[in-house]
Amino acid sequence: MASPSPFDVIAVVPPGLEEPAAAELAALGASAVRPLRRAVALRADPATFYRLHLQARLPFRFLRQLARFPCHGREDLYEGVQRAADWERWLPPQLSFRVEASGSAGGLNHSHYSALQVKNALVDLQRHLWGKRSSVDLDDPDVVLHLHLSPGRPGGAGPEAVLSLDGGGASLHRRGYRAAMGLAPLKENLAAGLIAHTGWDGRVPLADPFCGSGTLLIEAACRALGRAPGLERDFSLERWPDFDAALWTQERSVAVALARHTLADGQPLAPIVGMEREANVLAMARTNAAAAGVADWIDLQQGDCRDFRPPDAPGVLVCNPPYGDRLGADDDLEALYGDLGRMLKQRCGGWTLWLLSGNPALTGALRMKASRRVPVSNGGIDCRWLRYDIR
Ligand SMILES: C[S@@+](CC[C@H](N)C(=O)[O-])C[C@H]1O[C@@H](n2cnc3c(N)ncnc32)[C@H](O)[C@@H]1O
Repeated sequence: MASPSPFDVIAVVPPGLEEPAAAELAALGASAVRPLRRAVALRADPATFYRLHLQARLPFRFLRQLARFPCHGREDLYEGVQRAADWERWLPPQLSFRVEASGSAGGLNHSHYSALQVKNALVDLQRHLWGKRSSVDLDDPDVVLHLHLSPGRPGGAGPEAVLSLDGGGASLHRRGYRAAMGLAPLKENLAAGLIAHTGWDGRVPLADPFCGSGTLLIEAACRALGRAPGLERDFSLERWPDFDAALWTQERSVAVALARHTLADGQPLAPIVGMEREANVLAMARTNAAAAGVADWIDLQQGDCRDFRPPDAPGVLVCNPPYGDRLGADDDLEALYGDLGRMLKQRCGGWTLWLLSGNPALTGALRMKASRRVPVSNGGIDCRWLRYDIR
């Protein structure tokens, strides 16, 4: 049997994670992988597309392209959408749907209006074909469509529309292990991407002295121990008319079989330690680590970061301390960062620190010089993932 042909896919990723995401997706078998802004373009056959949903840690979503067409305005959009796919197959009226839109082209500047235009084109076509239409379901639709409009460039490509299917439905940062969240938690995919930037491979200790609900450590442990992120959730693609249940089961079994109690080469995972001042937040970290199946590998302690004592061998420190926007007052925080800098220099010589900073004034109080600065965005806040080599 000929293998099913690959299709074009866009992985939507957090800004700043394009490069590690491209590396992750290529390693999972995607071809023609190309980092873009906040996205990675790739090609995938159905098996690879399923594998990406089950195993990729960094993307928010995968958009499978149905059609790309010139779009100079509402009429082009309406007609282009009706021609974009074999809708008799993809959207019979018993399936519900939702349309999301981004970008602008040909005077279509309001995403809400553009999405409405797509919806109208589809329900008009359905009425024509079947005399009835799908219902729109914003919360849990069978099919999630995504429209991206691009205005084109002077002398280059003209305005264009790309219509895609969202394979996840709900954002892939939701793995399903995190019922409990502290204040200002990191999204799981951002945490996984920050860990990927550090290059930590599980062979040296990892510590987070401001661990909150534990997201950085849990994502790190899951990656080191081969726990696939997509095994505890549903995906929209499971409801698509071309869903291949046998292929999905096969890819799911492969993903399940990756889970280990050691690193891939059988070596033990190095110690992972977290510290958090608030007892109730630490309890959330424990609950989450247990739900993710990695509680046995993460030592979670209650305490103040000033009293933090790292494991013996030098390793990697990661942290997302409060930075004033959502927690605490700036004065206290300056003192906290000053104390953190002193603690690190006294006790963590030889370690590498990666700190997520949303406030340069505070990181100045560390009195240390960053050797790398990766711009990232945390919930819309412009941040830097800063690397310090502690002497
Ligand atoms: C921005 S949150 C970390 C969120 C975490 N990355 C997550 O995803 O849940 C900062 C955490 O540091 C804790 N914290 C604040 N001051 C601290 C201190 N002096 N020692 C230890 N933890 C502290 C707060 O209680 C909060 O949970």
